[in-house]
Amino acid sequence: MMQLTIQRKPLDRVEADALIIPVFEGRKEERFGAGELIETGEITGKPLEFTLLHHPAGMAAKRVLLAGAGKAGKFDTAELRKLVGAAVRYLKARSVKRIVLALEGGAEEACAAVEGAILGGFEPDRLKTGNDKKNVEAFAVAPAGKANGLEEAMERGRIMGEAQNFARELANEPANRMTPMKMAQAARQMAGELGLECEVLEQAEMEKLGMGALLGVAQGSAEPPALIVIRYKPVEAKGNAHLGLVGKGVTFDSGGISIKPSEGMEKMKYDMSGGAAMMGAMRAIAQLKPATRVTAFVPCVENMPGARAQRPGDIVTAMSGKTVEVINTDAEGRLILADAMAYARKQGCTHLVDAATLTGAIVVALGHYNVGLFASDDGLRDRVLAAAKAEGERMWPMPLEEDYKEYLKSAFADIPNVGGRWGGAITAAMFLKEFAEDTPWVHLDIAGTAWLDDAKPFMAKGPTGVPVRTMVRLAEMGVEE
Ligand code: BES
Ligand code: MN
Ligand code: ZN
Repeated sequence: MMQLTIQRKPLDRVEADALIIPVFEGRKEERFGAGELIETGEITGKPLEFTLLHHPAGMAAKRVLLAGAGKAGKFDTAELRKLVGAAVRYLKARSVKRIVLALEGGAEEACAAVEGAILGGFEPDRLKTGNDKKNVEAFAVAPAGKANGLEEAMERGRIMGEAQNFARELANEPANRMTPMKMAQAARQMAGELGLECEVLEQAEMEKLGMGALLGVAQGSAEPPALIVIRYKPVEAKGNAHLGLVGKGVTFDSGGISIKPSEGMEKMKYDMSGGAAMMGAMRAIAQLKPATRVTAFVPCVENMPGARAQRPGDIVTAMSGKTVEVINTDAEGRLILADAMAYARKQGCTHLVDAATLTGAIVVALGHYNVGLFASDDGLRDRVLAAAKAEGERMWPMPLEEDYKEYLKSAFADIPNVGGRWGGAITAAMFLKEFAEDTPWVHLDIAGTAWLDDAKPFMAKGPTGVPVRTMVRLAEMGVEE
């Protein structure tokens, strides 16, 4: 666990293995001979350009890392989070243990900096034997002015960063080690440690509830399904809203009988990233204690082409009573979410947000930089977008208009589980909308953003943990006026 402290002293007296000093593009910096390095073009201040100085004259710190921060006018908490993440990754690769950041700004900046440090510390190769990866031991901020509330802000940063890394750990586990039952176990343990209520519905209960859509997906696997329910109840709730966070928990998506090509199929262990994110959000919510009631619902299944697997053409009855023609068994996420959302409504949720690695089509539409956001309610949409903006998780609104229902017609059942060729992310969302019914609802398609195929300077290859921070912030903002 990383030690977090504050050093309130002039920068030249700060003690550290490395002191990070942001350098802005076009801003003068004369300390440490930087003026000359800027003149010769070695330092430009461009984002994430690093210059490491050893034993700079007049400094107590052993090293100074001049860290390019880009244009001062464009620098915000999101940029700072990335800068610190990248600096921590750069320094830990050089076995640096005790890091201090020269902090411009106050509490919000301190929080983002700690998040960056913790997120940058995550590595996805825990299962390599003989892996004694050296992590940073201590992170401190040295504020420029008399900033207030830094302790609390850094603690919040720790809670957020650790919750996000918790989600990343879950998402990164291979499917043989993270089955639906193992996910349920992880949920029970987390909830127990943090004083949350946790209930796991097993197959028999789901049968009683009539969750035919979820069970249809589960039946092709030898692994039994689980519907995880985690409840947070504030001591003193503000208003009567009850926010439901629904996360897709497909522990492996082979496609089922509509099997996927083998190339890249190994990545489908991350098909429970939405569920993992909602569990991570609950972990932070338990510690930050917002005044809104929040319950997470994580339907967990393995989508496999076993002998009992559902077939294309099968018609299942969802918990809501609607019949669904399963045209493509690889469109399984929406099937399990349909029943989880119906259950969340039955449990009294007044507002719903779901996160799911739902469609390849959203990756075609938005690439890997923005979560696709679909909303049935403008108020809830604006709140989620505001929360995302504040937390530096990029989301882009997508259409959800009745015309698109034309693409979802079945000759034999109420609705097919896939649309045609066009607007695949939208038809998936339209399908879900049928099960959100009149409850204000936002759908986040995270298929393009939950996983980094290549490492970034500030984040390792693998799971990103999106949208943990946005969900926590939304719970804090509340979902009604
Ligand atoms: N888990 C996938 C979505 C996915 C695909 C995520 C590629 C990341 C990368 C989902 O269950 C799925 O298979 N969706 C299908 C839907 C199609 C059959 C309508 C897809 O997107 O191809
Ligand atoms: Mn699929
Ligand atoms: Zn899937």
